[in-house]
Amino acid sequence: PARILTGITTTGTPHLGNYAGAIGPAIAATQAGDAEYFFFLADYHALIKCQEPERVEHSRLEVAATWLALGLDPQRVCFYRQSDIPEIPELTWLLTCVTAKGLMNRAHAYKAAVQENVDSGDADADKGVTMGLFSYPILMAADILMFNATRVPVGKDQVQHLEMARDIAQRFNYLFGAEFFALPEAVVDEDAAVLAGLDGRKMSKSYNNTIPLFVPAKELKKLVSRIVTNSQMPGEPKDPDSSTLFQLYQAFASPVETAAIRQRYAEGIGWGDMKTVLFEKLDSVLAGPRERYAELIANPAAIERTLQEGAEKARTIAAPFMRELRSAVGLRRLG
Ligand code: TYM
Repeated sequence: PARILTGITTTGTPHLGNYAGAIGPAIAATQAGDAEYFFFLADYHALIKCQEPERVEHSRLEVAATWLALGLDPQRVCFYRQSDIPEIPELTWLLTCVTAKGLMNRAHAYKAAVQENVDSGDADADKGVTMGLFSYPILMAADILMFNATRVPVGKDQVQHLEMARDIAQRFNYLFGAEFFALPEAVVDEDAAVLAGLDGRKMSKSYNNTIPLFVPAKELKKLVSRIVTNSQMPGEPKDPDSSTLFQLYQAFASPVETAAIRQRYAEGIGWGDMKTVLFEKLDSVLAGPRERYAELIANPAAIERTLQEGAEKARTIAAPFMRELRSAVGLRRLG
């Protein structure tokens, strides 16, 4: 069967973009039930950007409770923390040793960091770049290849990392002479590939423009009212495809509902009305999960148990596969 896998970095509070790009499509895929599912908390990835232990620890809890509140069934899915699978950093090293440095030089996140230094006239273009940031795509490749995932639901910002994972897999297969790794593919929902935030830029923790998934209704309403629009008046026909309000609506509504709102844009719906429509849609989808989230997060011990059971399940696959890979590269243990 196909293997579907995706992860969320535990550096903050999950937001609408995470839901639309990854969590929503991933949970929807489990309804079909015809694949194996691996969803995890990328907590080693969190250390790349964050050296605040309390923040990482709290975010792990928030991200786990978010998945569960949105309906993930840990019986049907392997649901675990990256850092509970020691085979992942082990595989990362094997992959690191066959990955060209030039490939990592091309990674968007690294290039952006270098560009920022160059733009600010810094003599050291690599200033502030850790080896963690630089080799981040190799750790992500290990996450994916460890479980031979074939389909990876992600937002557009992760597509390059998937291409790199394929490159690395092919290189390893070629060097060690067998199809150890399947080649993973990104599954990108085009409507939600880059969900915009409050200011119209990509919704991202680093831009401080996010709408967290489970803020109270009142706060959600306030955040929706802050989303930027242009200065068109009610009655003027409007372009849905350049509208953040429309894009957010589309990510949470059915195609039929979306078509109806598209029509209202043509008829010149006012921005105030559209904000009400969007708030009501979001609130109707999120009200139930929001309540479950509050209950879940109040019981960290239960979440911990669920994650540890998930890690045990994941390791029944990872441990024997890692033994096979060790043998392939010459690190076989005798006996
Ligand atoms: P992260 O934690 O930044 O984001 C988690 C997922 O949410 C998607 N996403 C968005 N989608 C649409 N619009 C947005 N504004 C938006 N913002 C975030 C991301 O594309 C991602 O799918 N490196 C990954 C985590 C990771 C991973 C993996 C993912 C680690 N190992 C293996 C898949 C497979 C990351 O930092 O995502």
